[in-house]
Amino acid sequence: MGRALIVYTTRTQETRQIADLIAEGIRFSGHEAVVEDVKAIKNEDALAGYDAYAFGSPTYHGEMIQPMKTFLFLAEKADLENKVGGAFGAHGWSTEAQDRIYQTMKTVFKMDMVGGPLPLKSAGLGGGIQMAQDYGRDIAKKMT
Ligand SMILES: Cc1cc2nc3c(=O)[nH]c(=O)nc-3n(C[C@H](O)[C@H](O)[C@H](O)COP(=O)(O)O)c2cc1C
Repeated sequence: MGRALIVYTTRTQETRQIADLIAEGIRFSGHEAVVEDVKAIKNEDALAGYDAYAFGSPTYHGEMIQPMKTFLFLAEKADLENKVGGAFGAHGWSTEAQDRIYQTMKTVFKMDMVGGPLPLKSAGLGGGIQMAQDYGRDIAKKMT
């Protein structure tokens, strides 16, 4: 059994809901998934011991919010090379946050990314629950 860590930040809880659903998809596939608010990650040691990682932030004013930016500098110090990765984030109309997170994980951390960031605005949209769970399943597939 593999272990996945899902780290999110949020203002109005939409991104947290997506994080929880991705975790469900990973667990349905027989792996362990831990979901953490970015505020709970105090240093890079907290990122050790996982096979896969998904990081998420909502888009506000065309970018990810500050707690995720700060967290990505912390994650830079962890050795995430070749680990499985995915990115997500609630949004209204544009996807800058998850796009930037995905590219950072791929090009800076050199992670083994799933096919793209999760293009889901909100878990509450029709089909949203399934989409987020399927993203978790995609992460799980790469872990095995
Ligand atoms: C002041 C403000 C600015 C926003 N800017 C953007 C934006 O640039 N692009 C976008 O797609 N959505 C934008 N949104 C919508 C949020 O991304 C959306 O409400 C999202 O569900 C919030 O996720 P959260 O609950 O995880 O914080 C904005 C919302 C507010 C209130």
